[in-house]
Order: sequence, then C-alpha cells, then structure tokens
Amino acid sequence: MIADVASFLLLALALLLAWVVLGPVFFGAPWHWTGQGALRRALDLADAQPGETLVDLGSGDGRVLITAARDYGLKGVGIEIDPVKVWVSRLWAKLSGVSDRVVIHWGNVADHPCKEADIVYLYLSHQAVDRLFPALFASLKPGARVVTQRFCLPGLRPDKIDCGGTLFLYTGRKGQNVDGYR
Ligand SMILES: C[S@@+](CC[C@H](N)C(=O)[O-])C[C@H]1O[C@@H](n2cnc3c(N)ncnc32)[C@H](O)[C@@H]1O
Repeated sequence: MIADVASFLLLALALLLAWVVLGPVFFGAPWHWTGQGALRRALDLADAQPGETLVDLGSGDGRVLITAARDYGLKGVGIEIDPVKVWVSRLWAKLSGVSDRVVIHWGNVADHPCKEADIVYLYLSHQAVDRLFPALFASLKPGARVVTQRFCLPGLRPDKIDCGGTLFLYTGRKGQNVDGYR
C-alpha cells in the first residue's frame, strides 16, 4: 500500500517536472527572465502611465507585472502556461503587496485575447511570436503599445528600438503596416 502511494507520488512528480520543463518549450518559449534594467527601459519605452493595464504574455515568475504595479502604478495581467510559475508569481505578488492589482491566469497565451491591454509585453520565442501574430494583435484596442524583448513582430517596423537592439516598441500607428496591427 505504502509502495503504491510512493510510486503514484513519484509518477505525479515526474509528470509535473516534465510538464514544467517541456510544456513551455513545446508551446512557446523556455524560461528566461527580463532583467530589472531592461524591464524599466521597456516600461519607459512604452510610456507606462498609472492606471493602465499591462498584459505580460508568458509572465514567468511575475517580475514584469510586479514591478509595473509596484513602481509604475499599472494593473497587471499575466498568462503563464507553467502552473508552478503561476503559483510562485501569485505568491510573490501577494508578498510584494500588489495582489489587488495583479492577476495571473494559468493558460496558453494563444487562448487569451488582449482586449484589455494598454501595453502588451512579449518575451517569447520567434516561433511563438510568429504563431500568435497577427490573430492576437487583431484583438488589441487602438492606441495599445506592444513591447517585445529580443524578437521583432513579423512584417512590422518598430517605432523605437532600445537596449542595444533587444527591445522593440510598436504602437500600431497608421503606416506601420497597412492598417495598424490589423
Ligand atoms: C522568456 S520567459 C519570459 C518571462 C517573463 N515575461 C519575463 O520577461 O521575465 C517566457 C515565459 O513564457 C511561458 N510560456 C511559454 N509558452 C507559453 C504559452 N504558450 N502560453 C503561456 N505561457 C507560455 C514560459 O513558461 C516562460 O515562463
């Protein structure tokens, strides 16, 4: 009986570990985090204003959302596929005193339209960005800004480039492509 429970727990742990490691790679990107310096540059680049909503697609440990809420007065919405990171980031948001302004959903970014976003932050792989685009960006409201880390949006010219060519700002203005993001 004890051996059965132990093997069940081991199997469950192995499956969870496999999901945590392989899930993000399969669906979009492995985990890298944005450093504090680049994060502040990204929020400044997007001209983040208190009360605006930032959506972080693939929110990792929640650092982007937490800094945005704590230091810039933004509301944060994160979507993260890895349940462990979701749990850790919710806990971190609570400990940082911003859990009233930060919501983190467990799920796939492909299923989450960004209607509420004033700013979208994206640090995923090329393939994931290509897969998401343009369907995801068609859901953006006019005036929303998109900041990408490392990867450009296919077929769009960024308005600004910062951080030695690793941060890209898109504002969806007319002329950036035929019809803004659409
Ligand atoms: C490069 S990390 C960026 C983390 C965070 N945004 C930051 O800048 O610190 C990418 C994150 O996206 C998550 N991810 C990858 N594919 C995803 C998908 N399809 N849906 C939701 N999250 C995803 C990964 O688990 C990982 O935490």
